[in-house]
Amino acid sequence: TAPTYDNILLSNPAPGVTLITLNRPKALNALSSPLFTELNAALRDAATDDSVGAVVLTGSDKAFAAGADIKEMMNKEFAEVYKSDFLAHWTEVTKFRKPIVAAVSGYALGGGCELAMMCDIILASPTAVFGQPEINLGVIPGAGGTQRLTHAIGKSRAMEIVLTGKNFSAQDAAAWGLVSRVVEEGSVVDEAVKVAGQIAKKGRVAVQSAKEGVNAAYELSLNEGLHVERRLFHQLFATNDQKIGMKAFAEKKKPEWTHK
Ligand code: HXC
Repeated sequence: TAPTYDNILLSNPAPGVTLITLNRPKALNALSSPLFTELNAALRDAATDDSVGAVVLTGSDKAFAAGADIKEMMNKEFAEVYKSDFLAHWTEVTKFRKPIVAAVSGYALGGGCELAMMCDIILASPTAVFGQPEINLGVIPGAGGTQRLTHAIGKSRAMEIVLTGKNFSAQDAAAWGLVSRVVEEGSVVDEAVKVAGQIAKKGRVAVQSAKEGVNAAYELSLNEGLHVERRLFHQLFATNDQKIGMKAFAEKKKPEWTHK
């Protein structure tokens, strides 16, 4: 039986696609610990389910997520957050090896912006509002905002966003390369499902390898990254799908992937 969740909704809007909808509408999807526990559990299921090729992560029209849950955090003390490694469970999203497409409408602030940046592709509604307002709460981004935003949009822009706490628009996010595109209002989930559906039709081993390769560009020097890429490329010659894909091309047929 499918697990039941209180803070997220799960559906299967297209073959091979799991749609995870953050669902704390009254709190604008503030990312509480229970929500993250459920998100991680859903991703763990998607990781081991061979029928899942890609995931779409979204929120509501008004908010992808308005940040970490401030009310949950406000009374915490240093020793507690340090000893329990508060926020460690957020990083599980980045360990998920299948592609995640974020469909962002409305607020993606603080931890919400950071969660979107943990995804592999971000599509934005024209209503999307991004920002790292933590400075206004007496703290700083704690789930990758100072790092991933800087990688994505460059130091000067990231500094301005993180130091002033001012929000930025979907159009700015697209112009700066944080999101891949801004889609028509009301269509961001459909568009994200379309992209995820296209990915889910590819061979899973090649897809995971491609994700691993692109991510290596964020972790490693150019030479090390190129080495990882070459090794991943070589490894794919040990798969059925490489034989199937290249044979299908030569025979002018459609490949039927085996995901092996
Ligand atoms: C807890 C939140 C919340 C949050 C909104 N709510 N954001 N609760 N944590 N991050 C709650 C409000 O308290 C309110 O609850 C309800 O959601 C609706 O929000 P309103 O403020 O009434 O809505 P609105 O006036 O439309 O303003 C929307 C908003 C504002 C501009 C997005 O809610 C806002 O500024 N939110 C906080 C944004 C923020 O600072 N995010 C960063 C969080 S720190 P009630 O009960 O009053 O109806 C962070 C740290 C990351 O993310 C570090 C590592 C993860």
